[in-house]
Amino acid sequence: MCGIIGIVGVHSVQERLIDSLKRLEYRGYDSAGVAGIVDGHVQRRRAAGKIRALEAVLVADPLNATVGIGHTRWATHGAPTTRNAHPQTAGRVTLVHNGIIENYADLRDMLKAEGRTFESETDTEVIAALIDFELGSGKPPLGALKAALDQLRGAYAIGVLIDGEDDLILGARKGSPLVVGYGDGEMFLGSDALAVGPFTNRIAYLEEGDYVAIDHKSAKIFDRNGAAAPRPVRTVAASAALVDKGNYRHFMEKEIHDQPEGCQRTIAAYVDTLTERAAMPGGVDFANLSRIQIVACGTSYIAGLLGKYLIEHLADLPVDVEIASEFRYRQPALRADALVIAMSQSGETADTLAALRYCQARGMPSACVVNAIESTMAREVDVVWPIHCGPEIGVASTKAFTAQISVLTALAVAAARARGRVDSAEEQRLVRVLLGAPRLIAESIDLEDAVKAVAVEISKARDVLYLGRGPMYPLALEGALKLKEISYIHAEGYAAGELKHGPIALVDEQTPIVILAPFDSYFEKSASNMSEVMARGGQVVFITDPEGQRHAPAGARVVVTAPQCDPLIAPLVMAAPIQLLAYYVAVQKGADVDQPRNLAKSVTVE
Ligand code: F6R
Repeated sequence: MCGIIGIVGVHSVQERLIDSLKRLEYRGYDSAGVAGIVDGHVQRRRAAGKIRALEAVLVADPLNATVGIGHTRWATHGAPTTRNAHPQTAGRVTLVHNGIIENYADLRDMLKAEGRTFESETDTEVIAALIDFELGSGKPPLGALKAALDQLRGAYAIGVLIDGEDDLILGARKGSPLVVGYGDGEMFLGSDALAVGPFTNRIAYLEEGDYVAIDHKSAKIFDRNGAAAPRPVRTVAASAALVDKGNYRHFMEKEIHDQPEGCQRTIAAYVDTLTERAAMPGGVDFANLSRIQIVACGTSYIAGLLGKYLIEHLADLPVDVEIASEFRYRQPALRADALVIAMSQSGETADTLAALRYCQARGMPSACVVNAIESTMAREVDVVWPIHCGPEIGVASTKAFTAQISVLTALAVAAARARGRVDSAEEQRLVRVLLGAPRLIAESIDLEDAVKAVAVEISKARDVLYLGRGPMYPLALEGALKLKEISYIHAEGYAAGELKHGPIALVDEQTPIVILAPFDSYFEKSASNMSEVMARGGQVVFITDPEGQRHAPAGARVVVTAPQCDPLIAPLVMAAPIQLLAYYVAVQKGADVDQPRNLAKSVTVE
């Protein structure tokens, strides 16, 4: 996936930009490019394909610059051609970009009406044109950047050169990471610590919504409100850069914050952003599939359960989901015309692997949704659907979970279209909704302070109940699992409708009840469950959205209000609050968040 490097130096940058781009190859890419300021003006060199193609271009036409930006592009908006490669230029502005701009079509129309023309199909060129437009109205570079950022809707990280400014790179991040590297008389910008690793190990991680102006001596960082916001400069060991914790105390905290980018990269792999169609690689014939059998363990099983809700609802395709350790020993009835999907972050979980092999031995075609693409599962299936959230280090799975759900959501849309359950206009609408998820996940993560306050209360509890209906039921299971495994508080997730069939006996003043209820078709029922709990003195932690807050039963303790969203992506948007809740409860209790007792990241024995 896309990588960014920027250097404001005093020595030639060409070779160093290439060196850095090579280090970013691990993210995957299909074109690359660099730009630098030569005699006061920006020049670009770009090539489709591998970095060696770009090197060949540079041999023929070197870039003699001391200020430059570079990019490896993994195509989202527009084919992987030289024309669509970054950097993209509009007027005085040249920029590189990771992420997706959701409202790029509207912005492009607005700019076209101002007489501007576009040469690529990318959303990136639209950002460049917007900044240039703002410069044209007399704003200074930073003012033009901020004015443009205020108009963008989406998740992004950018690096910007401006014609005539030969000691300046601008940058900004929202949903995608960006770091500033502090060198010796030179400064750097990178999409991660690895990008700037060859030049410096002194790094500042930009926070969500930050933007920055870098010259060869210093960086001026501003927060989302435009206030100066110096970020701490840390020393990062080069070998650890890929798995560095950044500004976070724990990998789990970092990985929760990684989710907008992880989901954006994953979603981009399973939708065509130009045609707004879902595109599951691997040639599975969803139209003629009789069934899907999902096998998995733990959090991956819960992601599979969410997949069942999504796929059956949208595509009318039956899905069975089963805990792999049960499935493998109980001689389940299988059909050779069904597809087995193994869900696994590690791709090595012994029970999931055994369940997968069990299905394969009975002639079933197989797929896996996996993070580790070199894993045993990835090697043994017919079709691999990787998640693209990067390595997950914290033992408690977070970003792999939302990336898995992202794949299954795209799959549900693809299957719905293949089976004639949605027309192409509805498919496009759903894809647009899905593309908007990373931004909303970032907004949901912004609820951190509200969640922290709740966590102080919950950390005193002995038992916690999580309730939800529809897709919020699997999320209730996940909330309970997260809390149990890292804070050691006993927790149970229940379908809210089951309350009266037993768990209501647990309700008392001491047991917090976390109710997950966005304002969807289940809301009324969830709200009456909430009233039942409150009538018995239960302490409700209500996780909802603004509409849900408006319609909440009187007396509800509305605590966490996630952004309003389409039901399609509610599981993605509501995941962060429950992950953060478990995280802050564990921190409050002083638990070893990243390595909870008795647990292993990869369970390779049954
Ligand atoms: C929970 C967790 C585990 C894993 C489970 C499956 O936070 O991480 O429940 O989800 O062990 O692991 P994978 O996905 O690697 O098969």
